[in-house]
Formats: sequence, structure tokens, C-alpha cells
Amino acid sequence: MDKIVLKGGKKLEGEVKISGAKNAALPILAALLLTEGWNSISNVPQLGDISTILKLLHELGAEISEDKKDIRVNARNLRNPEVPYDLVKTMRASILVLGPLVARLKRAKVSLPGGCAIGARPINLHLKAFENMGVKINIEHGYVEAKVKRLKGARIYFDIPTVTGTENIMMAACLADGTTILENAAKEPEVVDLATVLSKMGAKIHGAGTDVIMIEGVETLKPMEHQIMPDRIEACTYMVAAGITGGKVKLLNCNPSHCQAVVDKLQEIGLEVSTYNHDGGVLIAGGSDLKATDIKTHPYPGFPTDMQAQIMSLLCLSQGSSIITETIFENRFMHVAELKRMGADITVQGNTAVVKGVEKLSGAQVMATDLRASASLVLAGLAAEGVTEISRVYHLDRGYEDLIGKLFNLGADIERLKA
Ligand code: EPU
Repeated sequence: MDKIVLKGGKKLEGEVKISGAKNAALPILAALLLTEGWNSISNVPQLGDISTILKLLHELGAEISEDKKDIRVNARNLRNPEVPYDLVKTMRASILVLGPLVARLKRAKVSLPGGCAIGARPINLHLKAFENMGVKINIEHGYVEAKVKRLKGARIYFDIPTVTGTENIMMAACLADGTTILENAAKEPEVVDLATVLSKMGAKIHGAGTDVIMIEGVETLKPMEHQIMPDRIEACTYMVAAGITGGKVKLLNCNPSHCQAVVDKLQEIGLEVSTYNHDGGVLIAGGSDLKATDIKTHPYPGFPTDMQAQIMSLLCLSQGSSIITETIFENRFMHVAELKRMGADITVQGNTAVVKGVEKLSGAQVMATDLRASASLVLAGLAAEGVTEISRVYHLDRGYEDLIGKLFNLGADIERLKA
């Protein structure tokens, strides 16, 4: 298996172009199943998870034409309602095709995702919402079987604001009879990007980006063109990379307003952050004396759970004690043991981590269990003394486009060793 080898201590300097958002591209590509005809999507990041969803769309009968970041999809021959275990086990977001399949084919059979490295991650809220819309759900042999005669609009209250749950139901509701109202819906910018796509297709959606979304069902949807929004988690990860190395990095093609909760915390820690709205740019300069702060993850617009691991690496090198509370996933501290191997002083109790700042981290051989945990180890390695070797690189390939190339261009001493 490939490894990343990096030597810490280089200040990152220069510009980095932020890619399209993985978590916007995945539901948007699934939504293309709702139309017959060629849709064109640009700024699609080249990632492992994107290859997986394209493979899945192809299995279901969609025609696909790919030219790097420009992807065209035509689902006029959508016929196969079944998503096998092999695809769901590599990527939980495969569940996002359930809504479009039920809306177009009136049936779907999708393997039930199991637990994963960050928590149990059930899909009960998706399924309950489908049932409210008249869908018969049956779970057998590890598969969710969904069947419906007439998909009907409904009032749905999510007990927890679920991102992919909101997206799945929003997609199905576009082709349902009548009006659907989603309460306590997720407000993430990726939900808004999907709603923009659905509206371009002719759907009638109001309130995306707030916690109440109203969707009036229409008869059919038409193909469209769309550019994927910038990846706010990738952008924030490079902000931390600049901060942790005491460097100065300009991010291009990013939307600073999506990063506000993280930027506020980075400023509290002591980083200088300026935004340039004319070119969607942000300049981050790392401070020399970083201070501890407390962080609690929340749904958007709160501090994102997808940045919790990365900011922990920065707090490991900030003076004083920081408390990080993870409220979204029950098992998202798997990076702690690895950071401790690099000299970090962290104590975990339940969903809280107490991080005591240390003078320095030291390079080590480490491995991670999920995407964002892997990113936190790369960040720690950039600041650590000596060489850090990170295995299980496939986690990073799933969600950070050309991470090694981008860091190398900013001056990091980093390379990928092929197995
Ligand atoms: N939940 C339930 N039942 C459900 C659905 C969710 O109990 O039916 C719980 C989850 O277990 C969790 C909370 O609700 O405790 C929120 O989970 P959510 O459903 O919002 O997460 P998700 O939709 O599965 C997306 C992102 C994740 C990101 C979370 C939270 C995509 C493809 N994935 O997951 O991204 O962490 O929202 O913001 O959009 C990542 O990119 O590394 C990643 C894990």
C-alpha cells in the first residue's frame, strides 16, 4: 500500500486553488438520475469517492462522459434499481441514490450501510421519512428494499438535522404528488448547492439553507448545467496547514462565508486571516504564539465535525489547555492515539478531548482510520520535527484532490511512496 512520507518544519508559502466540494458533488451526481437527457457538471473534484459514485450511476444504467473535472451524465436508460454491498461498503454516501431511484423507478434495493470508523451512522431518519411519503420499506439480507405506488408529499420532522437524509428526501420530494415540508432540515451549504441544481432542473424548492424546506412536487425534471461549489473543508484544512507551519498561504476559489465558524476559531488561536471577496480568496498567516481555545462541533453554521481532527493538530501546538467536544459522531477521536505517538498531550473522556499544548511534535510512523483523521496526521507531520510516514493513503485519496501536489507546491517536503 502507498505511503506519504513528509519531513516537517517547512513554512508553507504561496497560493493554492481549492477544488469542488466532495460533499456537494456526491448528492448532485446522484440527483442526475432524476432526469432523462445530458446534464453537464463542472468543477467536479477528482477523488476516489467521485469514481465510486460514477461507477454506481453506470451500474444503474446511466451513460457517463468524463473529461477531467467536467462530467456529463444521461440517465434516460435508468433501469437497474439495485445497489450492491460492494459499492455501499466503499462509500456510505451511495445511500444518496435511494431518493432518486424511488422517485424515478418507484422501487430501489440498496445495501444497508454498516457502522463506520467514526460512529454507528444509522439511516433510520432517511427511512422514516420515506415511509411518511408512502414508501414501503423492508430490510432483508442486509438490503433496504423500497417500493411505492404513488410517492406523496408529506410533512417530515427530522429528530436530528441529517445532511444526506435531507438531501435524499429533497430529491425524492421533487417528483412526489403534492407538497413536502422538511422541518429541522440540515442547513449545510452543500444542501443549498443541491437545491440549486434541483431548481435548475425545474423543481420547486423554497427555504434550502434554513431549517424548513418546502418542495412542491412536479411531473418531470429536465437536464441542466452546474458548477460545483468550492470545498469548504478542503479550504479550512489548508488554513490550518498555513497556521501550523507559521507560513502564509492564499486560498483561491473559495467561499470564505462558508468557513466562518472555523475562521473565528483560527483567529482566536492567533492566526491572521484576511478575505478578498473580489477573487473569492482568503489569505492566512500563521501566528508565532498560538493560544488554546475550546471547540464544540455543531451542524452548520456551527463548527464542522469534518474539521475537528485537523484543528486538534493545531491545538496540540498551542499554548494552554483546549477542550474539544464532538457532538455529531460518537467515535470521532481515532486520530488521538496517533497524534499521541507524535508527542501530543491529549486525554479523551467520552465525547471530550482535553488537548494540552506541547512545545513540539516529533515525526513518527502513523496510520489513520478515516479521511479527516488522515488529514490531521498530515498537518501534524508538516509541523513535526523529523520524518512522518502515513499509511492507508487511500483515505486521503477519497476526499482531498491532489493533496500531496498542492502541499508540495506550497513548499512542503512531501512525497508519495508507491507500494
Ligand atoms: N443520524 C441518525 N440517523 C440518520 C441519519 C443520521 O441518527 O438516519 C445521525 C448520525 O449518526 C450523526 C448525525 O445524525 O450522529 C448527523 O449525521 P448526518 O446524517 O448529517 O451525516 P451524513 O449525512 O451521513 C454528512 C457528510 C459527512 C459529515 C456529516 C456531518 C456527506 C456525503 N457526508 O454525512 O462527511 O461528517 O454530514 O456534517 O455529505 C466527510 O466528508 O469526511 C464526512 C464524514
